[in-house]
This record gives sequence, structure tokens and C-alpha cells, in this order.
Amino acid sequence: MSFIKEQEKYINEILKELNYELPNVAILPSNRRELGDYQLNIAMSLAKKYHKNPSYIASEIVNKLDDRFINVNIANPGFINFSFKKEILLDYLNEVLEDFNKLVDKHETKTIFLDYGGANAAKALHVGHMRSPNIGEAMRRLANLLGDKTISDVHLGDLGRQAGMLISEIKLREPDLPFFDENFKGEYPKVTYTPSDLGELYVTANIKANENEERMEEVREITAEIDKGNKRYLELWKQLVAISKISIKEIYDKLNCHFDLWEGELDSFKDVPKILEILKPYLHESNGAMVMDVKVETDTKEMPPLIVIKKDGATIYATRDLATIYSRAKRFKPDEIWYFTDNRQSLYFEQVFRASYKALLVPYNCKLLHFGFGTINGSDGKPFKTRDGGVMELGSLIDQISEMIRPKIKEDIENKDEVCEKLTIATLKFADLMSFRNTDYIFEPEKFSSFDGKTGPYILYTVVRLKSLIKKSGLENFKLTSIPNTEVLDILLKIIELPQILNRSYLDKSLNYITDFLFDLASLFNKFYNNHHILTEEDEIKNSYLGMVKLVYIVMHELLDVLAIDEVERM
Ligand code: ARG
Repeated sequence: MSFIKEQEKYINEILKELNYELPNVAILPSNRRELGDYQLNIAMSLAKKYHKNPSYIASEIVNKLDDRFINVNIANPGFINFSFKKEILLDYLNEVLEDFNKLVDKHETKTIFLDYGGANAAKALHVGHMRSPNIGEAMRRLANLLGDKTISDVHLGDLGRQAGMLISEIKLREPDLPFFDENFKGEYPKVTYTPSDLGELYVTANIKANENEERMEEVREITAEIDKGNKRYLELWKQLVAISKISIKEIYDKLNCHFDLWEGELDSFKDVPKILEILKPYLHESNGAMVMDVKVETDTKEMPPLIVIKKDGATIYATRDLATIYSRAKRFKPDEIWYFTDNRQSLYFEQVFRASYKALLVPYNCKLLHFGFGTINGSDGKPFKTRDGGVMELGSLIDQISEMIRPKIKEDIENKDEVCEKLTIATLKFADLMSFRNTDYIFEPEKFSSFDGKTGPYILYTVVRLKSLIKKSGLENFKLTSIPNTEVLDILLKIIELPQILNRSYLDKSLNYITDFLFDLASLFNKFYNNHHILTEEDEIKNSYLGMVKLVYIVMHELLDVLAIDEVERM
């Protein structure tokens, strides 16, 4: 159990002895440091609840505090201010030096299934596609840290109009391929397109189909054929998906995203007949389509029925999500399924979740949760674009940032490419995770790639500094023996706040609390570093400083790991 939580438990026991009850006792960092490092504001709530004077209750509590609490004082109307004895802070933090988990309040283990990534096969990833993998991956790692079991699935969008587009274009260019011969009986050949060929095929087909209705009709037909299970097209399409996966995986690897499962919409096909049978009693016809009502009486917002089967008899995005939910619940029995997509899919997921519960595709105790995120905008407040106004591919953004970073890296670094790539990814990820999940943010390439300020490179620079100090010290064992000044105290108190930060991030499914914490900690440390020559101090003080250095390093290292940001050795 973390230090603060343990002290909160102790306060709870005191309350019990005093015959008071309060659901959440919180020890908070003080906002009036001259009165103490911490404050306890519970006397006010208790006063209301028990109709007593808050300062009376405060003094009752204060009288019971043991000698771990020092400089205790009460400020009007009943704020209890105090600090903790230095020795117990040091004992605790020395334990953290041995085991980072002492800074983590584990919760009861749940099995969480995470659906993030969501790239669409044979279509380039755009800037906006970065948030789902960034947030999803970090949330997976945070859940693991807090004790959950997780299963992650990229859930590829591998069915849709792009299939018809690509195949219609290939048919035009290579009409003799056996995939286009209804009577072909042998084994289908392997096509030799590269991932970038697919990009070109899609763009060309898209332009042609948008200009020509007949061509668009063909695209629709082929897409519908695949949906119906047409073997020839399906065989070709699966090959194309496999090729496309290579480039998708490359980008996710760069972003340090690792998926346990590489499934997608195509994989849900096998469960579609089964779920349609289950859903049958709930479906009714509407304009030729089969839909399911998901509205309830208490709804205050519009809740349209969910289309399950289209007019032409084909399945739809929703059908495949329903089948996927059914299969996930059956195979993995998760306690919760988390979806990370952009906010625009909120209503959609609400419909799908309601339909799933209504038809019992999942048991009621499996929580289906959608966590939406905001858009990444340019300085004009509209979705981030290329200079000439086109959609910005994620790969191009990575290249652009990398070009801005490269000249800033020290000349004599050998593995410059690797360092540059890591700084680039750190730039993107830190920027992406630092705004609250639900809000839009403006992507500012200059600002975010700066080595100064609240940026990924600044954090990594601090880590480089910490590692270099640790190495130069020549020490093997690090221990905190004293708190020589308030700068060190502030750093240590910051670290003690971490367990609460982790919980808040987990509850809100937003990593901004962690990026804020990293930045605050790095700033406190750098301020200290600029004022002190750590390595030339006399031994006693030097060793205590180095204990703090090591501790800051451990904390930053673990948090960067949660955010899936790699460290560098030099930069
Ligand atoms: N491919 C989808 C898109 O681009 C995201 C998939 C999200 N996951 C899901 N199970 N629907 O919008």
C-alpha cells in the first residue's frame, strides 16, 4: 500500500474511535506550504454531518495523531495542516528505491479486453489515427501496472468499400488473374503487390469511382460479394489485407504498440450467422433494412434504431461489432471491454452496447465501455492538414517531425537515426497524451518538438541527465539518508503523490495526469540540478542527493514505460 493511502487508513481508524464516519478521507498536498506539507479538510464535512463546530472536530482529530505527524496546526475554520516526520518519508522512499511497486496502489484484478488501433486495411493511416493506439496502449500498460489482466486487439477495419475499390482496379489492370475467372478450379496464385502499391491502387480507384457511377456500382457489387462470402474475391482480398498489415504493423511498432490479437472485421464473419439468429426476435424491418430498437423511455437524447442488416442483405460495421462482442465475451470472459475511438463514434457504440445487452450477446456483468477522444487540429482549429490542405498521413507527420528534430541532436552521436526516431516518437506521443482525452487539441510541430518546455524531448533530456549522473557517481547502492534542503523535499513530496495520479489516470482513462506529473517532476529536478553541483558535494550530502537522483530516475523510467515512450542514452 502506498504511503499516503496508509496514512489515510490510519486517519480513518481515528475517526472510528471518535465515532465519526466519512467515506473518503483524503490527505492532500498543502496549498499553504508555510503551514505544513499536507492538509486534511475533513473536519468541515464532519461538522456538517454531525452538527458540530469544525474546529472542535479538528482538535479532536489532532489530539489523536501520533508522532509521525509533526508541525500540526489548525487553521480556520477547521483545516488541519501538518507535515510528516522526515524519517518516515525517508524509510518509505528507500523502500521505493528497492521496489517501484510501493508507489502503486494495486486494485482487485479484473480482466480487461482493449480494442484500439483500428487501422483500416489498404488505406493509409492519417494523423487522427494516432490517438487510438497511443491512448489505448498506455491504458493497457497502466491497467497492467495497477493489477489488471489485459488482452488487446487491433481490430482492423478489413472490410468495406476499400476492398471493392482495390479489387475493381486490379481487375482492370490484370483481368486474366484467376480471381476473375468464375470457372477457375486450381490453387490461387499469390499476388505480388507491395504495401505502397496498395496505396496507389486505392487512390486511383477512388478517383475513378467518384467520377463514374458505373465504376462505383462495380465497387459496391464486389464489396457486397465479399460480404456474401464470394470465394474468389475473398481469397484475393485476404491476400491484400495481409500485405497491408505489414505496413500497418510497421507504424504500430514505431509507436510501441503491441497487440495480443491481430483480428479484424473479417474474423467476425464466422459468428455473424449465430448472432443473427440470437438477434432475430429483436429485429424488425424498416425501409427494407433490418433494424433493432435500442431506445429506452428515460432517453433524453435521440437514440435511433441500430441497422443490423442493410437493404441489400449485406452486413454492416455494426453487425460485425456485434459478432465481435459475442465472440470476445465467449472466448475471453472479460470483466470489461474498452473501446478507444474518436468521439464521433460515441452514439454508435452506445447503440451497439445497448443492442448487445438487450439480446444478451454479453452477460450483464461484462461492462462495455467506449472512451472517445477529441480531434487533432491545425492552428486554424480544423483537423490537421498538410500545407496544401490535403489530409496528412501519419507517416508524413513522423517524417516532418523527424526532420525538425535531427539538427538538434548532438553532432558526435553514433546512432543518430535511432535517437532521432525515438525523439520523434516521444514528441508525438507526449503531445498526444498530454491533453485530456476527450478534448480536441492543436498540434504545434515547433512547440512539441522543442527540447525545452512541456515536451517529450524535454522529459527524455532530463532522463539522459539522470542516467549520466548515476553512471558518473560510480555508486551501486543508492540510499536516501537525509533531506538536505527544501528543493529535495519538494521533489520527494512530488514523488509521494504518484499513486493518486495513477489512479486518476485510470479512472478517467486519460494520460494527461501522468504527463503533467512527469513534467512537474522533471522541472523540479532540473531546477535543483541548476543550483547544485551534486558530484562535488561532501559524501554525506552527495549520497543523499544521488539517492534522490536514482529515485527520480526510477519513477520517470516506469512512467515513460506506461506511456510507451523509449528512453535514449544521449541526445
Ligand atoms: N476501423 C474503425 C475506424 O476507422 C475503428 C475500429 C474501432 N473498433 C471497433 N470495434 N469498431 O473508425
